[in-house]
Amino acid sequence: MKLTGPFKQLLTMDHLPEKGPLSDDLLEIIPDAGILHREGKILATGNFQQMKDQFKSTNIEWMEGDYVGMPGMIDVHTHISWAGSRANDYALRQSGKSYLEIAESGGGIWDTVIKTREATMEELAGLIEQRALKLLKLGVTTIEVKSGYGLSVEYELKILEAIAFANKRSMVDLIPTCLAAHILPKDFKGNEKEYLETITAKLLPEIKKKNLAQRVDIFVEKSAFSIQAAKIYLTKAKEMGFDIVLHGDQFSVGSASLANELQAISIDHLEAANDLEIEILAGGNVIPVVLPGASIGLGEPFAPARKLLDAGTSLVIASDWNPGSAPMGNLLVEAAILGTFEKLTISEVFASLTCRAANAILKTDRGILKQGNLMDIMAFKTNDYKEILYQQGQLKAGMIWKNGDIVI
Ligand code: NIG
Ligand code: FE
Repeated sequence: MKLTGPFKQLLTMDHLPEKGPLSDDLLEIIPDAGILHREGKILATGNFQQMKDQFKSTNIEWMEGDYVGMPGMIDVHTHISWAGSRANDYALRQSGKSYLEIAESGGGIWDTVIKTREATMEELAGLIEQRALKLLKLGVTTIEVKSGYGLSVEYELKILEAIAFANKRSMVDLIPTCLAAHILPKDFKGNEKEYLETITAKLLPEIKKKNLAQRVDIFVEKSAFSIQAAKIYLTKAKEMGFDIVLHGDQFSVGSASLANELQAISIDHLEAANDLEIEILAGGNVIPVVLPGASIGLGEPFAPARKLLDAGTSLVIASDWNPGSAPMGNLLVEAAILGTFEKLTISEVFASLTCRAANAILKTDRGILKQGNLMDIMAFKTNDYKEILYQQGQLKAGMIWKNGDIVI
């Protein structure tokens, strides 16, 4: 048993509603706080001095200086399993070509597929580990990782195996998602329906058997898969016991109602969502995951985060870190920027990175600092939580714990 503290302020993120707007006075802030923990799990939070007096023989992990602590961030949408670079796409975009035009002329996702197929499983695992460590050092203690740059049974399995391998060797938790339905691969002889049928028949059962992922994702877009094809694919995946999510309404709308109809866990992107899509999502329980890193990466509008919350939905912010649309990979910076443009309260931004994000990966053992949950914490050297987003990610987490162990 160990007592860690004192934190000048501890934001537990406890007792917040799962949906709708949040004002900052809803934040539970424990001043001069301590956390009692054992084997990576929180036993109690409270006043440091009182806990110290109560548990006299406990080891104390003393903190020097003023720190504000809160749950480690949960990044629920990344594509960090890639090889190569897409700096060329970036240069083309800057000289006037659009993301979709670049994809159509052979660049884009397909270019990354070629490079990722060339990498060995071990090389890919090494790249995933490096990126996961970068995120962990920024305070991200759980990372969802999609496949999607293999696009055949064999290569998708290689990527999912690389994610599993990297997960075993990393301190941070990697949550794998099968995104074999990223785009129709250029070397597949058949249409989208036939490709998805192949994936359903040959890849998904293998993933189940080897326990390589519990989540299935699809990119619904003009350059990727149609709503009709996605509906059949996701329905089958759900029948097989997978949790389903989708990339939707990024450039064109139409997938919000599909997400609702299929009761997907989340719909991610939503940059193109209008009032109708917001109304549809407000009528169900699908979690909107917005990806400011993709808006910043492509110079596209942000998803309507404020309107979504005001309509009564949940809101999660994720990095979408990938080599094409979102090369930054800095969730806190991206969330802080989205917050200023969309007028989100501090409480709404923090919830979207912690407690509400936990719901989007169905992991209720994290995202809130309370008894029984993981001791996953990031702490900033300041005496006021308002400094964190105000400094737009330039105040970096100075101390981080994963499963009770100090990372930095
Ligand atoms: O979420 N939109 C589809 N997929 C990714 C981009 C992947 C890539 O460009 O390599 C995204 O933005
Ligand atoms: Fe994505």
